[in-house]
Amino acid sequence: MKIVSLVGARPQFVKEALVGQAARESGAWDHVLVHSGQHYDPDMSDVFFKEFGMPRPQHHLGVGSGSHGAMTAAVLAAMEEVLLAERPQALMVYGDTNTTLAGALAAAKLRIPIIHIEAGIRQKPRDMPEEINRVLTDHLASRLLCCSSLGARNLAAENIRQGVHVAGDIMLDVFLRLRPRFAPAAASAARGVVPGGYFVATLHRDFNVDRPEPLSAILTGLSRLSASTGMPVLLCLHPRTRQRMERFDLIRAADGLVLLPPVGYIELMSLVCASAAVLTDSGGLQKEAYYAGRRAVVLMPDTGWRELIECGFNLLCPPEADRVVAAGQAVLAPVAPPPAVYGCGETAAAIVTVAQELLSSCS
Ligand code: UD1
Repeated sequence: MKIVSLVGARPQFVKEALVGQAARESGAWDHVLVHSGQHYDPDMSDVFFKEFGMPRPQHHLGVGSGSHGAMTAAVLAAMEEVLLAERPQALMVYGDTNTTLAGALAAAKLRIPIIHIEAGIRQKPRDMPEEINRVLTDHLASRLLCCSSLGARNLAAENIRQGVHVAGDIMLDVFLRLRPRFAPAAASAARGVVPGGYFVATLHRDFNVDRPEPLSAILTGLSRLSASTGMPVLLCLHPRTRQRMERFDLIRAADGLVLLPPVGYIELMSLVCASAAVLTDSGGLQKEAYYAGRRAVVLMPDTGWRELIECGFNLLCPPEADRVVAAGQAVLAPVAPPPAVYGCGETAAAIVTVAQELLSSCS
């Protein structure tokens, strides 16, 4: 029995690290790893393989960057060849990237069942690339692993009821497993900040960074937040955001911010654990802040991780400088984290069980 697991973007490497390990330990199937190449800079890709001791992918599709159509098409064509050569009983895909959708399309046309990890997330705007990718992938999948009951309800609202499992969040497994390696004091000292006395920020969504207005407003808001609280803001810069800041001549709008390159998982979690709070448009980081007991400002019009908004732990914030300052100040107030919203860190085992059950139905 064989499962091909497809990754390509930063958060998927982190998730696959634990799922792949659990799969190999179970010995239940031959786990073939494919890297699409959507993320390719060493600090966007290699660093994660090193940190997690992940095996080299058996196939690297080398697609690189491009328009949505070009990237999705390149992964689709290359994955078709891989799937025809490998002939797996299932394809495993993660989340909502172009890599995810392309892999799912290739498998569906070859009638290979799809296991979708992090299924059932829904958020506005409906036309954002990630939303398109996740809705279509969910409708093609045979097994849908949701992080919470909200995911299962979202799927039911679209008449997807078969093969749906509430398995918890694999990112919580990763967080708990790697927590002994986090070094909050050393990480903050290395970046020249004091534990408890700084913010961590990340920014990469197209609707925030691809036009000068929202990007300028958010950077200005972060600068003013830093000035008003006296706390440095560490802004970890996705290559896309750095390119846009240079193109729009916005490096000056980031005055007063500490600009960092993309950082690896262990360093980022270490910095979050010692931070006062987080500001981000990353789906993963808004949950990871919660796992670290830190509140987050979610720089998005909406989020799939609504549970953390509804209880008031995280705050949604539009790209307006004054609102960024107000939200950043507000999340400094302590609020008790809601308990076990996304399971208790046993998701890798649940994924293995669901995959085994799928494989036994194929034999
Ligand atoms: C992608 C996902 C997003 C996820 C994010 C995690 C899609 C549609 N989006 O967004 O859901 O949250 O990954 O990080 O799949 N670039 C580099 N080096 C790299 C990778 C990208 O310079 O290694 C630059 C390129 O200019 C590229 C741009 O970043 O065009 C955007 O990269 P892309 O993979 O298209 O989307 P992300 O913004 O990374």
